[in-house]
Amino acid sequence: MTADLSIRMARLADLDAVEAIEWSVFDSDQLARASLRRYMSVPSAAMIVAQEGAEITGYALVGFRKGSKIGRLYSIAVDKARAGRGVGRALLEASESAATSRHCTSFALEVRADNPRAIALYEKNGYAMLGREDEWYEDGGAALRFEKKL
Ligand SMILES: CC(C)(COP(=O)(O)OP(=O)(O)OC[C@H]1O[C@@H](n2cnc3c(N)ncnc32)[C@H](O)[C@@H]1OP(=O)(O)O)[C@@H](O)C(=O)NCCC(=O)NCCS
Repeated sequence: MTADLSIRMARLADLDAVEAIEWSVFDSDQLARASLRRYMSVPSAAMIVAQEGAEITGYALVGFRKGSKIGRLYSIAVDKARAGRGVGRALLEASESAATSRHCTSFALEVRADNPRAIALYEKNGYAMLGREDEWYEDGGAALRFEKKL
């Protein structure tokens, strides 16, 4: 990771970069531009970006539900050319901090069962696998559910 990595809340000006990462990184279940834009402004979500120099190199999206103490990682993605340098981990930690600051006591996520890289990221950061959901994704792929106590 470069020394000038900064992790901050997304601004509307980041929308193009976040959308580009979303559509270059995921093959299915991409979030539409309008959804990404909405998540940047609603109180039930926190959109976090990684910025290195002038470039947005990744983003994470956290969701909150009224009356629930469980924060949810809706999405996390790092630009392919910038993967494997600690940006994902930094975004995950910032997502957990966002949940803690909203008084969440645990943090939950689903990940494709065929995504060993993301699964490794979660396991190394203290997440426990709670179960499996078959046919969770648009293409019929299975999801694994992970959770971590904050
Ligand atoms: C998953 C993802 C967010 C990780 O971001 P990243 O910046 O590459 O991750 P980091 O560099 O912080 O690495 C964190 C851990 O990921 C794993 N990892 C990173 N690069 C890896 C590689 N080339 N091969 C296997 N595992 C790898 C390792 O466990 C690593 O921990 P370590 O560095 O202590 O060994 C990123 O690869 C990505 O955007 N993938 C596509 C989108 C996606 O799958 N999102 C998750 C949806 S649930």
